[in-house]
Amino acid sequence: MSQKKKIVVAVTGASGAIYAKLLLDNLLKLSDQIEKVGVVMSDNAKEVWRFELGDSSYDNYPFTFYPKMDFNAPFASGSAKFDTMIIAPCSMGTLGRIAHGISNDLISRAADVILKERRKLIAVVRDTPFSLVHINNLKAVTEAGGIICPANPSFYSLPKTIEELAQTVIDRVIDLAGLEQQSYRWNDLP
Ligand SMILES: Cc1cc2nc3c(=O)[nH]c(=O)nc-3n(C[C@H](O)[C@H](O)[C@H](O)COP(=O)(O)O)c2cc1C
Repeated sequence: MSQKKKIVVAVTGASGAIYAKLLLDNLLKLSDQIEKVGVVMSDNAKEVWRFELGDSSYDNYPFTFYPKMDFNAPFASGSAKFDTMIIAPCSMGTLGRIAHGISNDLISRAADVILKERRKLIAVVRDTPFSLVHINNLKAVTEAGGIICPANPSFYSLPKTIEELAQTVIDRVIDLAGLEQQSYRWNDLP
């Protein structure tokens, strides 16, 4: 097993707070592979979480949460050596700020740092349909080295609940982050 990971999780105000919740739940379970998780939420992320999930349970996670304008957070600098940043869900607003290097809050600054340090940025973008502005921003972030992992669930594992459906996205995110986990694998027979 490679070194334990230092991970930034950013939650923004796109629909799909369930993705953020499942991601945080999964990271808790994988704590033996992780040195540190820092979390930052936008204002709208909290609002959407309360609206879609009906609670403020983001307050209950034992990770360190940083205010969205806290540029003293370690991952606001490359020197802190966070390996991976996962933005789930990622709004088109946040995507646009990252695509254009507008580091005016901790989320866009942390993403800017991850890209400049050539580390791993995973953006679980959510909106539909896409405008050409969105498509150009998706392209720009990809060209800068980021991974766009759209919040598009898959159905071939025959999920029975909304949670199972959303987990199909988070399974891919966990794989992309280089964490080892048990999950459904197509035609992977014993
Ligand atoms: C209930 C709700 C759902 C939203 N869903 C989306 C969405 O799916 N995608 C998106 O890009 N913005 C969505 N928005 C709008 C963003 O929250 C808004 O553009 C915000 O300014 C994004 O900023 P942030 O990335 O800092 O959270 C939604 C807003 C609300 C209130």
